[in-house]
Amino acid sequence: MKGKEEEKMKLRKRPRRNRKSEEIRGLVRETHLGVEQLIYPMFVWEGEGEEEIESLPGNKRWSVEGIAKECKRLYEELGLRCVDLFGVVGEDKKSADGRAAWDDGGVVQRAIRAIKRAVPGMVVMTDVALDPYSTYGQDGIVKELEDGSIEVMNDETVEALVKQALSHARAGADILSPSDMMDGRIGALRTALDEAGMENVSLLSYTAKYASCLYGPFRGALGSAPKKGDKKSYQMDPANRREAVREALLDEEEGADILMVKPATYYLDVITELREATHLPIAAYHVSGEYLMIQAAAASGWLDEKQATLEALLSIRRAGADMILTYAAPRVAQWLREER
Ligand code: PBG
Repeated sequence: MKGKEEEKMKLRKRPRRNRKSEEIRGLVRETHLGVEQLIYPMFVWEGEGEEEIESLPGNKRWSVEGIAKECKRLYEELGLRCVDLFGVVGEDKKSADGRAAWDDGGVVQRAIRAIKRAVPGMVVMTDVALDPYSTYGQDGIVKELEDGSIEVMNDETVEALVKQALSHARAGADILSPSDMMDGRIGALRTALDEAGMENVSLLSYTAKYASCLYGPFRGALGSAPKKGDKKSYQMDPANRREAVREALLDEEEGADILMVKPATYYLDVITELREATHLPIAAYHVSGEYLMIQAAAASGWLDEKQATLEALLSIRRAGADMILTYAAPRVAQWLREER
């Protein structure tokens, strides 16, 4: 019988040495997920009180007063530092040009003021796009063509987005985040903000926003699904990667402060690509459909919610994103807190 020594492989390099204990794994860990990197998307409506959003379990439509109170709790108890606001309005407030979007007394504008009053440290970001206010459910101004189809008009939309953005900035938003994918809107918003003396308001651009099936649950939350047509003439083709770099370079040149890729986990290669193409910070939006896939699998006992969520978010960080928008932000903050 051979001795034990002789049976050993002659391996000088054994990568497993770096995984032999939790302490050593901690020393060599390359990527971390922290509460300071999370942005929580929230919905504010004109109604009284709050309402569970059926298509986004664990999330609510908040009243103006309710959202301010909730933001204070998220800030003080969970350490969340940034929320992204979406307005929900009734069909009676919607119009062809989405004009409710730039009403200074609108629900988002009132929410911004209420949150800033209740918890001044909370970074308030707002979504800039017309779809929640458009009778067409499109992100921009629509022209009906003779053949019955529609066109979302670029330059007219940018003018409307400027009005909406200035209104959010006047209400006290810290970061404006245009999600419409019109050409030239970053430059137009930067110019308008600077001319209005609001040069300290930041722009987080939805730089590479793909025409994805994964926005379905979000549109359910807002009642904003397109009534006619789709969004493929402005949101990007999921087949394209180089085009994302082109968008990134334009946004950087036009004055964006942060670039975003959306959705996140199906587009990790795009996150990495943008990370390498620019020095700007990169954000990624783990969208409603990505969130819901995990929720559904967890609800039926197929996956562990905490592990599946944390692994998805870590993969987004590893790909190169600095910050992540996620509907799981409060739960993740709680889990991270428990681990410390
Ligand atoms: C619309 C907007 C969408 C999302 C954020 N802003 C949906 C869309 O483009 O139709 C999606 C967010 C999500 O799915 O979580 N301006």
